[in-house]
Amino acid sequence: AVEGIDVRRPFPPLRNDLVLRAARGERLERSPVWIMRQAGRYLPEYRSGRAAHDFFTVVRTPALACEVTLQPIRRYPQLDASIIFSDILVVPQALGMEVQMVPGKGPVFPEPLVTPDDLARLAVDVDVDEALAYVMDAITLTRHALDGAVPLYGFAGAPWTLMAYMIEGGGSKTLSKAKRWLYRYPDASHRLLQRITDLCVDFLVAQVKAGAQLLQVFDSWAGELSPAQYQQFALPYATQLAARVRAAVGSDVPLCYFPKGAASALPWLRSSAYDCLQVDWTVTPQDARVLAGPEKTLQGNADPCVLYADEPAIRAVTQTMLEGFGPASRYIANLGHGMYPDHDPEHLGYYLNAVHTLSTEMCRS
Ligand code: CP3
Repeated sequence: AVEGIDVRRPFPPLRNDLVLRAARGERLERSPVWIMRQAGRYLPEYRSGRAAHDFFTVVRTPALACEVTLQPIRRYPQLDASIIFSDILVVPQALGMEVQMVPGKGPVFPEPLVTPDDLARLAVDVDVDEALAYVMDAITLTRHALDGAVPLYGFAGAPWTLMAYMIEGGGSKTLSKAKRWLYRYPDASHRLLQRITDLCVDFLVAQVKAGAQLLQVFDSWAGELSPAQYQQFALPYATQLAARVRAAVGSDVPLCYFPKGAASALPWLRSSAYDCLQVDWTVTPQDARVLAGPEKTLQGNADPCVLYADEPAIRAVTQTMLEGFGPASRYIANLGHGMYPDHDPEHLGYYLNAVHTLSTEMCRS
Protein backbone atom coordinates (compact mmCIF):
# COMPACT_ATOMS: atom_id res chain seq x y z
CA ALA A 1 0.00 0.00 0.00
CA VAL A 2 2.84 2.34 0.92
CA GLU A 3 4.45 1.98 -2.54
CA GLY A 4 1.68 3.84 -4.35
CA ILE A 5 1.73 6.93 -2.13
CA ASP A 6 2.60 10.27 -3.76
CA VAL A 7 4.35 12.12 -0.93
CA ARG A 8 4.25 15.46 -2.78
CA ARG A 9 0.47 15.89 -2.62
CA PRO A 10 -1.12 17.79 0.31
CA PHE A 11 -1.67 15.78 3.51
CA PRO A 12 -5.16 14.24 3.87
CA PRO A 13 -7.55 16.05 6.24
CA LEU A 14 -7.41 14.92 9.89
CA ARG A 15 -10.51 13.00 10.98
CA ASN A 16 -9.70 12.60 14.71
CA ASP A 17 -8.35 15.69 16.48
CA LEU A 18 -9.14 14.60 20.06
CA VAL A 19 -5.49 14.58 21.16
CA LEU A 20 -4.91 18.04 19.67
CA ARG A 21 -8.01 19.38 21.41
CA ALA A 22 -6.90 17.87 24.73
CA ALA A 23 -3.49 19.53 24.33
CA ARG A 24 -5.17 22.91 23.69
CA GLY A 25 -7.37 22.58 26.77
CA GLU A 26 -10.68 22.29 24.92
CA ARG A 27 -13.69 20.48 26.37
CA LEU A 28 -13.72 16.75 25.47
CA GLU A 29 -16.52 14.23 24.94
CA ARG A 30 -14.12 11.48 26.06
CA SER A 31 -10.44 11.14 26.94
CA PRO A 32 -8.13 10.52 23.99
CA VAL A 33 -5.70 7.61 24.37
CA TRP A 34 -2.41 6.42 22.85
CA ILE A 35 0.33 4.20 24.27
CA MET A 36 4.10 4.57 24.45
CA ARG A 37 5.80 1.77 22.45
CA GLN A 38 2.42 0.93 20.95
CA ALA A 39 4.46 -0.53 18.08
CA GLY A 40 6.82 -3.25 19.21
CA ARG A 41 7.61 -6.80 20.10
CA TYR A 42 4.38 -7.51 22.02
CA LEU A 43 2.59 -7.45 18.63
CA PRO A 44 2.83 -10.73 16.67
CA GLU A 45 2.68 -8.79 13.37
CA TYR A 46 5.77 -6.81 14.49
CA ARG A 47 7.72 -9.94 15.43
CA SER A 48 6.95 -11.75 12.18
CA GLY A 49 7.47 -8.75 9.92
CA ARG A 50 10.65 -7.63 11.66
CA ALA A 51 12.33 -11.03 11.79
CA ALA A 52 14.12 -10.38 8.51
CA HIS A 53 15.40 -6.93 9.52
CA ASP A 54 17.34 -5.63 12.47
CA PHE A 55 15.95 -2.77 14.54
CA PHE A 56 17.91 0.13 13.04
CA THR A 57 17.28 -1.19 9.50
CA VAL A 58 13.54 -0.81 10.17
CA VAL A 59 14.14 2.67 11.63
CA ARG A 60 16.23 3.73 8.59
CA THR A 61 13.88 2.36 5.92
CA PRO A 62 10.85 4.69 5.62
CA ALA A 63 8.53 2.04 4.14
CA LEU A 64 9.31 -0.38 7.01
CA ALA A 65 9.10 2.31 9.72
CA CYS A 66 5.77 3.42 8.26
CA GLU A 67 4.44 -0.14 8.17
CA VAL A 68 5.41 -0.78 11.80
CA THR A 69 3.93 2.58 12.92
CA LEU A 70 0.61 1.61 11.33
CA GLN A 71 0.42 -1.88 12.89
CA PRO A 72 -1.12 -0.78 16.21
CA ILE A 73 -3.39 1.72 14.42
CA ARG A 74 -4.84 -1.09 12.28
CA ARG A 75 -5.22 -3.45 15.23
CA TYR A 76 -6.73 -0.96 17.68
CA PRO A 77 -9.30 1.45 16.20
CA GLN A 78 -9.51 2.89 19.74
CA LEU A 79 -6.11 4.63 19.41
CA ASP A 80 -6.30 8.41 19.00
CA ALA A 81 -2.68 9.01 17.95
CA SER A 82 0.26 7.34 16.28
CA ILE A 83 3.96 7.86 17.05
CA ILE A 84 6.62 7.47 14.39
CA PHE A 85 8.64 4.27 14.70
CA SER A 86 12.17 5.43 15.44
CA ASP A 87 14.42 5.76 18.49
CA ILE A 88 15.84 8.53 20.65
CA LEU A 89 19.33 7.15 19.91
CA VAL A 90 19.28 8.31 16.26
CA VAL A 91 20.57 11.66 17.59
CA PRO A 92 23.81 10.21 19.07
CA GLN A 93 24.16 8.35 15.77
CA ALA A 94 23.84 11.64 13.88
CA LEU A 95 26.61 12.99 16.14
CA GLY A 96 28.83 10.20 14.82
CA MET A 97 28.47 7.59 17.57
CA GLU A 98 27.86 3.95 16.78
CA VAL A 99 24.80 2.41 18.46
CA GLN A 100 23.82 -1.26 18.15
CA MET A 101 20.51 -2.72 19.28
CA VAL A 102 21.38 -6.05 20.86
CA PRO A 103 18.35 -8.38 21.11
CA GLY A 104 17.56 -9.17 24.73
CA LYS A 105 19.96 -6.52 25.98
CA GLY A 106 18.92 -3.20 24.47
CA PRO A 107 21.11 -0.42 23.06
CA VAL A 108 24.91 -0.72 23.18
CA PHE A 109 27.47 1.97 22.29
CA PRO A 110 30.79 0.18 21.55
CA GLU A 111 32.72 3.44 22.14
CA PRO A 112 30.92 5.61 24.71
CA LEU A 113 32.23 9.02 25.80
CA VAL A 114 34.72 8.50 28.63
CA THR A 115 36.38 11.88 29.27
CA PRO A 116 35.77 15.42 27.95
CA ASP A 117 38.52 14.80 25.36
CA ASP A 118 36.06 12.44 23.67
CA LEU A 119 33.80 15.39 22.79
CA ALA A 120 36.25 16.02 19.93
CA ARG A 121 34.98 12.77 18.38
CA LEU A 122 31.48 14.18 17.92
CA ALA A 123 30.46 15.57 14.53
CA VAL A 124 30.19 19.38 14.32
CA ASP A 125 27.59 21.40 12.39
CA VAL A 126 25.41 18.37 11.73
CA ASP A 127 22.80 18.97 9.03
CA VAL A 128 19.81 17.01 10.36
CA ASP A 129 17.98 17.20 7.06
CA GLU A 130 20.80 15.11 5.68
CA ALA A 131 21.89 12.99 8.65
CA LEU A 132 18.36 12.11 9.76
CA ALA A 133 16.59 12.42 6.39
CA TYR A 134 15.26 8.88 6.86
CA VAL A 135 13.23 9.94 9.92
CA MET A 136 11.68 12.88 8.09
CA ASP A 137 10.94 10.69 5.05
CA ALA A 138 9.29 8.10 7.33
CA ILE A 139 7.16 10.84 8.93
CA THR A 140 5.99 12.24 5.57
CA LEU A 141 5.17 8.79 4.25
CA THR A 142 3.35 7.78 7.46
CA ARG A 143 1.34 11.02 7.58
CA HIS A 144 0.03 10.15 4.10
CA ALA A 145 -0.49 6.46 4.87
CA LEU A 146 -2.49 7.29 8.00
CA ASP A 147 -4.94 9.03 5.67
CA GLY A 148 -6.02 11.39 8.45
CA ALA A 149 -7.20 8.60 10.78
CA VAL A 150 -5.23 9.99 13.75
CA PRO A 151 -2.47 12.59 14.25
CA LEU A 152 1.22 11.62 14.19
CA TYR A 153 3.67 12.34 17.02
CA GLY A 154 7.33 13.03 16.27
CA PHE A 155 9.82 12.78 19.14
CA ALA A 156 13.34 13.16 20.46
CA GLY A 157 15.26 12.27 23.59
CA ALA A 158 15.78 15.06 26.11
CA PRO A 159 19.38 16.35 26.28
CA TRP A 160 20.15 14.87 29.72
CA THR A 161 18.81 11.42 28.78
CA LEU A 162 20.80 11.38 25.53
CA MET A 163 23.95 12.52 27.34
CA ALA A 164 23.44 9.70 29.85
CA TYR A 165 23.24 7.08 27.07
CA MET A 166 26.28 8.52 25.27
CA ILE A 167 28.40 8.16 28.42
CA GLU A 168 26.94 4.97 29.92
CA GLY A 169 27.06 3.24 26.55
CA GLY A 170 23.71 1.56 27.22
CA GLY A 171 21.29 0.89 30.03
CA SER A 172 22.54 1.16 33.61
CA LYS A 173 21.21 0.64 37.13
CA THR A 174 23.03 3.58 38.70
CA LEU A 175 24.01 5.93 35.83
CA SER A 176 27.21 6.35 37.81
CA LYS A 177 29.35 7.07 34.74
CA ALA A 178 27.06 9.79 33.42
CA LYS A 179 26.49 11.32 36.86
CA ARG A 180 30.22 11.24 37.50
CA TRP A 181 30.56 13.64 34.56
CA LEU A 182 28.09 16.06 36.18
CA TYR A 183 30.18 16.19 39.37
CA ARG A 184 33.66 15.99 37.85
CA TYR A 185 33.29 17.78 34.53
CA PRO A 186 30.39 20.23 34.92
CA ASP A 187 31.67 22.58 32.19
CA ALA A 188 32.16 19.78 29.68
CA SER A 189 28.73 18.41 30.67
CA HIS A 190 27.13 21.76 29.86
CA ARG A 191 28.98 21.93 26.53
CA LEU A 192 27.75 18.44 25.63
CA LEU A 193 24.18 19.19 26.72
CA GLN A 194 24.17 22.37 24.64
CA ARG A 195 25.39 20.55 21.53
CA ILE A 196 22.71 17.89 21.93
CA THR A 197 20.07 20.59 22.49
CA ASP A 198 21.06 22.46 19.33
CA LEU A 199 20.76 19.29 17.26
CA CYS A 200 17.44 18.30 18.86
CA VAL A 201 15.96 21.74 18.11
CA ASP A 202 16.76 21.33 14.40
CA PHE A 203 15.56 17.73 14.46
CA LEU A 204 12.18 18.46 16.06
CA VAL A 205 11.55 21.44 13.77
CA ALA A 206 12.42 19.26 10.75
CA GLN A 207 9.98 16.60 11.96
CA VAL A 208 7.18 19.18 12.01
CA LYS A 209 8.08 20.36 8.49
CA ALA A 210 7.96 16.69 7.43
CA GLY A 211 4.44 16.24 8.84
CA ALA A 212 4.59 15.56 12.60
CA GLN A 213 1.48 17.05 14.27
CA LEU A 214 2.66 16.82 17.91
CA LEU A 215 6.09 16.38 19.47
CA GLN A 216 7.16 14.47 22.57
CA VAL A 217 10.49 14.82 24.38
CA PHE A 218 11.50 11.74 26.42
CA ASP A 219 13.57 12.41 29.56
CA SER A 220 13.66 8.75 30.60
CA TRP A 221 16.50 9.27 33.08
CA ALA A 222 15.18 12.44 34.75
CA GLY A 223 14.35 10.48 37.91
CA GLU A 224 17.99 9.51 38.50
CA LEU A 225 19.01 13.10 39.28
CA SER A 226 18.76 14.94 42.58
CA PRO A 227 16.46 17.96 42.35
CA ALA A 228 19.50 20.25 42.34
CA GLN A 229 21.17 18.32 39.53
CA TYR A 230 17.93 18.16 37.58
CA GLN A 231 17.62 21.95 37.86
CA GLN A 232 21.19 22.44 36.76
CA PHE A 233 21.63 19.86 33.98
CA ALA A 234 18.23 18.65 32.75
CA LEU A 235 15.63 21.39 33.21
CA PRO A 236 17.47 24.27 31.45
CA TYR A 237 18.06 22.22 28.29
CA ALA A 238 14.61 20.58 28.22
CA THR A 239 12.97 24.00 28.53
CA GLN A 240 15.35 25.72 26.09
CA LEU A 241 14.50 22.97 23.60
CA ALA A 242 10.78 23.65 23.92
CA ALA A 243 11.15 27.44 23.73
CA ARG A 244 13.25 27.29 20.56
CA VAL A 245 11.03 24.70 18.87
CA ARG A 246 7.95 26.74 19.80
CA ALA A 247 9.49 29.89 18.31
CA ALA A 248 10.18 28.01 15.07
CA VAL A 249 6.94 26.05 14.61
CA GLY A 250 4.35 28.35 16.21
CA SER A 251 1.54 27.43 18.56
CA ASP A 252 -0.34 24.87 16.41
CA VAL A 253 1.95 21.95 17.26
CA PRO A 254 1.57 20.73 20.86
CA LEU A 255 4.83 20.02 22.69
CA CYS A 256 4.93 17.23 25.31
CA TYR A 257 7.62 16.36 27.83
CA PHE A 258 8.08 13.21 29.91
CA PRO A 259 10.38 13.66 32.94
CA LYS A 260 10.17 9.99 33.94
CA GLY A 261 10.43 9.38 37.67
CA ALA A 262 10.60 13.10 38.39
CA ALA A 263 7.08 14.33 39.12
CA SER A 264 8.68 16.68 41.67
CA ALA A 265 9.99 18.61 38.64
CA LEU A 266 6.46 19.47 37.42
CA PRO A 267 6.22 22.84 39.22
CA TRP A 268 9.39 24.03 37.42
CA LEU A 269 7.79 23.16 34.09
CA ARG A 270 4.73 25.36 34.59
CA SER A 271 6.40 28.32 32.89
CA SER A 272 7.89 26.19 30.09
CA ALA A 273 6.65 26.13 26.50
CA TYR A 274 5.42 22.54 26.92
CA ASP A 275 1.65 22.10 26.55
CA CYS A 276 1.56 18.52 27.85
CA LEU A 277 3.42 16.83 30.66
CA GLN A 278 3.56 13.05 30.80
CA VAL A 279 3.67 11.36 34.21
CA ASP A 280 4.36 7.80 35.34
CA TRP A 281 2.55 5.69 37.95
CA THR A 282 4.69 6.81 40.90
CA VAL A 283 2.54 9.93 41.31
CA THR A 284 -1.22 10.08 41.84
CA PRO A 285 -3.20 11.94 39.19
CA GLN A 286 -4.37 14.38 41.87
CA ASP A 287 -0.82 15.17 42.99
CA ALA A 288 0.32 15.50 39.38
CA ARG A 289 -2.40 18.10 38.79
CA VAL A 290 -1.44 20.08 41.88
CA LEU A 291 2.25 19.96 40.91
CA ALA A 292 1.73 20.86 37.25
CA GLY A 293 -0.87 23.56 37.93
CA PRO A 294 -4.12 24.06 35.98
CA GLU A 295 -2.64 25.15 32.63
CA LYS A 296 -0.92 21.98 31.43
CA THR A 297 -2.45 18.92 29.79
CA LEU A 298 -1.42 15.77 31.65
CA GLN A 299 -0.67 12.48 29.94
CA GLY A 300 -0.44 9.07 31.62
CA ASN A 301 -0.12 7.14 33.82
CA ALA A 302 -1.12 3.51 34.63
CA ASP A 303 1.69 1.12 35.51
CA PRO A 304 2.28 -0.97 32.35
CA CYS A 305 2.23 -4.05 34.62
CA VAL A 306 -1.49 -3.43 35.15
CA LEU A 307 -1.88 -5.05 31.72
CA TYR A 308 -0.88 -8.40 33.25
CA ALA A 309 -4.14 -8.27 35.27
CA ASP A 310 -7.54 -9.53 34.10
CA GLU A 311 -10.17 -7.35 32.45
CA PRO A 312 -12.14 -6.32 35.59
CA ALA A 313 -8.93 -5.30 37.38
CA ILE A 314 -7.74 -3.30 34.35
CA ARG A 315 -11.13 -1.56 34.28
CA ALA A 316 -10.95 -0.71 37.99
CA VAL A 317 -7.47 0.83 37.69
CA THR A 318 -8.58 2.79 34.63
CA GLN A 319 -11.64 4.11 36.50
CA THR A 320 -9.51 5.40 39.38
CA MET A 321 -7.02 6.95 36.96
CA LEU A 322 -9.71 8.74 34.94
CA GLU A 323 -11.46 10.03 38.06
CA GLY A 324 -8.14 11.31 39.35
CA PHE A 325 -7.16 13.23 36.23
CA GLY A 326 -10.64 14.36 35.26
CA PRO A 327 -11.39 12.93 31.80
CA ALA A 328 -13.17 15.92 30.26
CA SER A 329 -10.32 18.36 29.77
CA ARG A 330 -6.53 18.71 29.71
CA TYR A 331 -5.99 14.96 29.82
CA ILE A 332 -4.62 12.34 27.40
CA ALA A 333 -4.70 8.73 28.60
CA ASN A 334 -1.54 6.66 28.18
CA LEU A 335 0.51 4.30 30.33
CA GLY A 336 3.25 5.50 32.67
CA HIS A 337 5.88 3.89 30.41
CA GLY A 338 6.02 1.78 27.27
CA MET A 339 4.57 -1.64 26.44
CA TYR A 340 6.67 -4.67 27.45
CA PRO A 341 7.49 -7.47 24.99
CA ASP A 342 5.55 -10.07 27.03
CA HIS A 343 2.32 -8.06 27.20
CA ASP A 344 -0.77 -9.76 25.78
CA PRO A 345 -2.19 -7.59 22.96
CA GLU A 346 -5.71 -8.52 24.07
CA HIS A 347 -5.12 -6.90 27.47
CA LEU A 348 -4.09 -3.63 25.86
CA GLY A 349 -7.47 -3.81 24.12
CA TYR A 350 -9.15 -4.08 27.55
CA TYR A 351 -7.34 -0.93 28.69
CA LEU A 352 -8.21 1.05 25.55
CA ASN A 353 -11.86 -0.04 25.78
CA ALA A 354 -12.01 0.92 29.45
CA VAL A 355 -10.67 4.41 28.68
CA HIS A 356 -13.29 4.82 25.94
CA THR A 357 -16.36 3.58 27.77
CA LEU A 358 -15.59 4.95 31.23
CA SER A 359 -14.42 8.39 30.10
CA THR A 360 -17.41 8.74 27.76
CA GLU A 361 -19.76 8.04 30.71
CA MET A 362 -17.88 10.44 32.99
CA CYS A 363 -17.83 13.23 30.40
CA ARG A 364 -21.62 12.93 29.98
CA SER A 365 -22.46 13.23 33.66
O1 CP3 B 1 5.78 2.99 19.47
C1 CP3 B 1 6.55 3.88 19.91
O2 CP3 B 1 6.52 4.31 21.08
C2 CP3 B 1 7.51 4.55 18.93
C3 CP3 B 1 8.81 4.04 18.89
C4 CP3 B 1 9.81 4.25 19.99
C5 CP3 B 1 10.84 3.30 20.21
N1 CP3 B 1 11.72 3.82 21.11
C6 CP3 B 1 10.94 2.00 19.52
C7 CP3 B 1 11.75 0.95 20.13
C8 CP3 B 1 10.04 5.31 20.87
C9 CP3 B 1 9.18 6.55 21.10
C10 CP3 B 1 11.26 5.05 21.54
C11 CP3 B 1 11.89 5.98 22.50
C12 CP3 B 1 13.00 5.50 23.33
N2 CP3 B 1 14.05 4.72 22.94
C13 CP3 B 1 13.18 5.88 24.67
C14 CP3 B 1 12.31 6.82 25.44
C15 CP3 B 1 11.12 6.15 26.01
C16 CP3 B 1 11.45 5.20 27.11
O3 CP3 B 1 11.31 3.98 26.87
O4 CP3 B 1 11.84 5.65 28.20
C17 CP3 B 1 14.36 5.24 25.12
C18 CP3 B 1 14.95 5.32 26.51
C19 CP3 B 1 14.91 4.53 24.02
C20 CP3 B 1 16.16 3.73 23.98
C21 CP3 B 1 15.87 2.31 23.75
N3 CP3 B 1 15.48 1.80 22.54
C22 CP3 B 1 15.92 1.24 24.69
C23 CP3 B 1 16.28 1.38 26.14
C24 CP3 B 1 15.57 0.09 24.00
C25 CP3 B 1 15.56 -1.33 24.52
C26 CP3 B 1 14.27 -1.61 25.23
C27 CP3 B 1 13.73 -2.95 24.79
O5 CP3 B 1 12.50 -3.13 24.90
O6 CP3 B 1 14.50 -3.84 24.39
C28 CP3 B 1 15.25 0.46 22.67
C29 CP3 B 1 14.78 -0.44 21.61
C30 CP3 B 1 13.45 -0.15 21.04
N4 CP3 B 1 12.99 1.07 20.65
C31 CP3 B 1 12.48 -1.13 20.74
C32 CP3 B 1 11.41 -0.44 20.17
C33 CP3 B 1 10.13 -1.04 19.64
C34 CP3 B 1 12.63 -2.63 20.95
C35 CP3 B 1 13.62 -3.17 19.96
C36 CP3 B 1 13.17 -4.44 19.32
O7 CP3 B 1 12.20 -4.43 18.57
O8 CP3 B 1 13.83 -5.43 19.54
